[in-house]
Amino acid sequence: MKQLWSGRFKESLDDLMLRFSASIGYDRRLYAYDIQGSIAHCKTLHKAKVLKAVEADKIISGLKKVEKEFETGKFPIDESLEDIHMNIERRLTTLIGPLGGKLHTGRSRNDQVALDVRLYLRDQIGHIDKSLVALAKVLIAQAEKNSDRIIPGYTHLQRAQPVLLAHHLLAYVEMLGRDRERLQDTLKRVNVMPLGSAALAGTNFPLDRHYTAKLLKFPKVTNNSLDAVADRDFVAEFIAAASLLMVHLSRLSEEVVLWASSEFGFIELSDRFTTGSSIMPQKKNPDAAELVRGKTGRVFGHLTGLLTVLKGLPLAYNKDMQEDKEPLFDTVDTVLMCLDVFAGMMKTAKFKRLSPESLAQSGFLTATDIADYLVMKGTPFRKAHEITGQTVAFCLDAGLTLEEMDLPRLKKISKTFEEDVFEFISIENSVERKNVFGGTAGGRVREQLRRLKREWK
Ligand code: ARG
Repeated sequence: MKQLWSGRFKESLDDLMLRFSASIGYDRRLYAYDIQGSIAHCKTLHKAKVLKAVEADKIISGLKKVEKEFETGKFPIDESLEDIHMNIERRLTTLIGPLGGKLHTGRSRNDQVALDVRLYLRDQIGHIDKSLVALAKVLIAQAEKNSDRIIPGYTHLQRAQPVLLAHHLLAYVEMLGRDRERLQDTLKRVNVMPLGSAALAGTNFPLDRHYTAKLLKFPKVTNNSLDAVADRDFVAEFIAAASLLMVHLSRLSEEVVLWASSEFGFIELSDRFTTGSSIMPQKKNPDAAELVRGKTGRVFGHLTGLLTVLKGLPLAYNKDMQEDKEPLFDTVDTVLMCLDVFAGMMKTAKFKRLSPESLAQSGFLTATDIADYLVMKGTPFRKAHEITGQTVAFCLDAGLTLEEMDLPRLKKISKTFEEDVFEFISIENSVERKNVFGGTAGGRVREQLRRLKREWK
């Protein structure tokens, strides 16, 4: 097939080179945005008196026909036509005749592709936002449903202090809130209209770029034509925001994998989001969480890949930039899938109730409370810390838990201990006393729940 740019060439493109340089294999998914952008460009050409009204109308109805063909699976993709932009323009010309050749006046594929990617990403951020909100709501609902459950909180993956499970789940809702903010902020830089920059210098035709922006609902137009066709910051920024979102999903995945093990036994995942083993009949594997954790790596890879593509590029457009699309598309697909699977997995999961005995066993969750108890009786914290350390050492030697200690034994370690210590160090009281703003006490967690339910309406 003769290329649309073949005028100055004597030989036709080598097959190998065609396959190497083509992006039609993946940029076909931009078709609707390409057509939307072309319709707006066509109207702007008419406003600039470059196209007559009848011409503009004919081109626009031709473009709509092309769109129908895509929607009904009837568009004849021509792999030899490099990319989606060439495919649509060629098809338009086949359908309406040489008039189709006027559409590209005052435009280059350089500003065209920048526009298409921006339109695409704007839409996708909207889809991701919906899925993100859905996941946050699932976590909030699970927190509410299990609001009285206590789990051990960890540092260094060592049992540290008791916390409410709801508090733990809502920590992830906080992270999702920041992810959402980051994506909305990225959207500001995505939402800028580049058309009219043409190849790099702007165009000879008096295009009203603000009019094009209005048609396409962009709040801003790009300020500098060179920057407009060379800028992919917004793609990198999106993948960076997506990477942090994946970090959060991956951390929760890791917790779910641990929690679902018989060693932890905090959670029972539903059959719908787990798989069996082909050899070990007893197994129920948390594959959904493992895959989300695993797929995080490819999103990080896309970020590094794109930054590396961009770092050595002189202004303005360079063909290297075609390498922005696969990382972008795969990031969008991966993030959307992970959010949806995660919501399904968490929605159908059941949290097990941990008995006070299992919480008391091993770990000395309330050791810090013993130290604070001594402090409240007047012992300086450093001294109290030391006494508590001796108490723990004594328990370890004697094979006892803190709760199993009696007063005479405690008195031997410090005279300050009195009968009220046992109530003070009960797991429930330990939680309830963490009553600072942002702490794990029931009232504070209910406060968080109320606020988050409002924020994630
Ligand atoms: N397929 C190209 C891309 O994705 C479109 C822009 C091509 N521009 C050019 N001057 N060859 O970047």
